[in-house]
Amino acid sequence: MKEVDRSKAYRLFYPSVPAVLSTSYRKTVSAMPVVSFTTLSESPSLVGLSSLPSHATHKTVLSARRFSLCWLDRKDLRAMAHLASHPGREGEDKLLSAGLKHHRGKKVDVPVIDAAVAVLECSLTKTIKFGDHELLVGRVKASYAIEDFRDYWSFEEYRPILYTGWKGDLTTLD
Ligand SMILES: Cc1cc2nc3c(=O)[nH]c(=O)nc-3n(C[C@H](O)[C@H](O)[C@H](O)COP(=O)(O)O)c2cc1C
Repeated sequence: MKEVDRSKAYRLFYPSVPAVLSTSYRKTVSAMPVVSFTTLSESPSLVGLSSLPSHATHKTVLSARRFSLCWLDRKDLRAMAHLASHPGREGEDKLLSAGLKHHRGKKVDVPVIDAAVAVLECSLTKTIKFGDHELLVGRVKASYAIEDFRDYWSFEEYRPILYTGWKGDLTTLD
C-alpha cells in the first residue's frame, strides 16, 4: 500500500453521511454541516462532534450550551451545500438563509429543521480540546425520525447525502 500523509488521514473516513449542527443564541441562528461526529455512549445517550473553534456555529453552541443534529434527505443537498459555503454572521438566521425552515425542539430550546429525516436534541455537557479541534459532547434529550426508520433505516423513503471530501463535494448513492 502507498503511504498516506498523516495530515490527510481523516480523509480515509470518507465518504460519510453528514448531519446539520444547529443552535441559536439571542437573535442568531447558527448552522453548519458536520461529518466528524459519533455516538459516545448508549446509556446515558451521549454524542460527540469535533468542530473548529473558529466556526460561528461552534461559538454559538458554547454560548447556548445546547444544539440539535439533523439529518437531511438528498433533496436538501443544495441547502446543505449553502450551509457549508457561507460562514454565519451574528444576528443572521443561517438556516433560513439556506432555505431551511425550522421550529423549536420538543425538549430542548434549539432550532430543528422542518425537513429533517432524523433529529437529536442535545444539551452540551462537556468540551474537550483535541489539537486544532474541540470535541463538543452532547447529552441526547430527545431523538426522533420519520417512519422510514424502523429501528434501522429501511431506505424506502430516505435517500442519504454523502460527503466525499473532494473539494467539499456532496453527493448521493444513485
Ligand atoms: C459535509 C461537510 C461536513 C463538515 N464537517 C465538519 C465537521 O465535522 N467539523 C467542522 O469543524 N467543520 C466541518 N465542516 C465545515 C463547516 O461546515 C463549514 O466551514 C461551515 O461553513 C462553518 O459555518 P459557520 O462558520 O457558519 O459555523 C464540514 C463541511 C462540509 C461540507
